[in-house]
Order: sequence, then structure tokens, then C-alpha cells
Amino acid sequence: MNPLNHVAIIMDGNGRWGIKNKNSRNAGHKAGLKTVELIIKNSIDHNIKFLTLYAFSTENWKRPKKEINYLFSLLENFLKNKLINFNKHNIKLKIIGKKNFSKNLNNLLKKSESKTKNNTKIQVNLALNYGAKSEIINAVNKLNKQNLKITEKNISSHLYTKNIPDPELLIRTGNTKRLSNFLLWQLSYSEIFFEKKLWPDFNTNNFNKIIRKYKNLKRNFGSI
Ligand code: FPP
Repeated sequence: MNPLNHVAIIMDGNGRWGIKNKNSRNAGHKAGLKTVELIIKNSIDHNIKFLTLYAFSTENWKRPKKEINYLFSLLENFLKNKLINFNKHNIKLKIIGKKNFSKNLNNLLKKSESKTKNNTKIQVNLALNYGAKSEIINAVNKLNKQNLKITEKNISSHLYTKNIPDPELLIRTGNTKRLSNFLLWQLSYSEIFFEKKLWPDFNTNNFNKIIRKYKNLKRNFGSI
């Protein structure tokens, strides 16, 4: 059976779910947050050590202001109300992406990270204002500045995900098959599962089934 330490997820389909079920894209995001809580819980049950969730990309700024504001208000309320559960369940939170939000949100994000930093059951990486190409460019620029060689190891250790093993498994919900500028470096050898269901409909059974299939795959890493 393949080991599974790190699962990455592109949580796609909130907008379509919201329009179909409540005639509002934002209602889809609200429902999507429930799935976030469920999948964190399920990941703990599977003894997964890192869960990386794509919550907001550098490209998502192109969305209508009303939707962007709603997403960030969801995030703020989530952190304000649920951080206590993160500590109760021994969950460490880390933000990956450029933290250049309002002063209030930046402070809340930093506070949430620092209050959970000693938790050990699982690390949840929330990708916010995240883009893989700019992450790689930043890493290379940092290496140049420090006069360090451009090696695989040096690039990896200058990404947001330094000290985190690469995901063995990527799941994308929402019946779309693309990577959308997510973890392009870290996913170079990951197994990818595209799921038809929209993120708010994704459930424990769907998650368990993908994990079972992943665990039974023959992984060769270029060998035979
Ligand atoms: C993609 O679906 C989803 C997002 C851009 C946002 C993800 C946010 C959540 C799951 C809820 C909030 C999470 C936190 C942690 C506060 P989409 O809107 O692109 O869906 P579509 O393809 O149907 O339009």
C-alpha cells in the first residue's frame, strides 16, 4: 500500500453548486466551507499529516468584488469562530501564498498560525493569494540574492512549502481537469484524481474511495 502523508485539493465547483441550488454563487462558497470542515476531519481519521487546500488563487482577484468580499468574510468568521476547534483537535494552520491583505486580515492570519503552531495531529495549509509560478520565481530570486546555486533542493527549501513533503495525491473536484497554477513544482510526481462532484457535494465516501484507489496504485517514479 502506498504511504499517504500529504493530500492537496483544488476545491472547485462552489459557484456552480450555489447557482444550481440557491441561485447564488456565494451560497456555494458557504456550503463549500462545510465540506472543508468535513474533509479536515476525514483526513485526521486517515492519519494524513498535511492537507493543502486551494482557497484563493492570485487569479481569483479577477472575480466580482462582491464575491471576493464574501469569500474573505467567510474566512474571517471561520478563523474567529473555529480556531478554538483547531486547538481542540490538535490542528496546525499554515497560510501559503502572499499575505498582502488588509492589516486586520494579515494580523488575524498571523495570529491563527501562531496560536496553532505547536499542534501536531495534522497541518492544514490554506493556499490564499497563492500562485505557483510566482512562488517559483520568488524562490529563484531569493537564491540569486543569497548567491546560492539553483538546485532542486534549494528551490524546494525556498518555496512556501519548505519542510513539507510533496503531496502524493492531488484531488480536484468540479469536473474540470486542469492545475490552475496550483503547486506546480510540488505536484511533479503526484497522483491526480479528478472528481465529477462539485466541492459542496463531495463527501466522506468520495474521499475514502479516492484514497483507497490511490493506496493501491503501482507507483514507479520513472522506473518499471
Ligand atoms: C472554487 O470554486 C472555489 C474557490 C475559489 C473558493 C474556495 C472556498 C471555499 C471552499 C470556502 C471558503 C474556504 C475557507 C477556508 C474560508 P468556484 O467558485 O471556482 O466554482 P465554479 O467553478 O463552479 O465557479
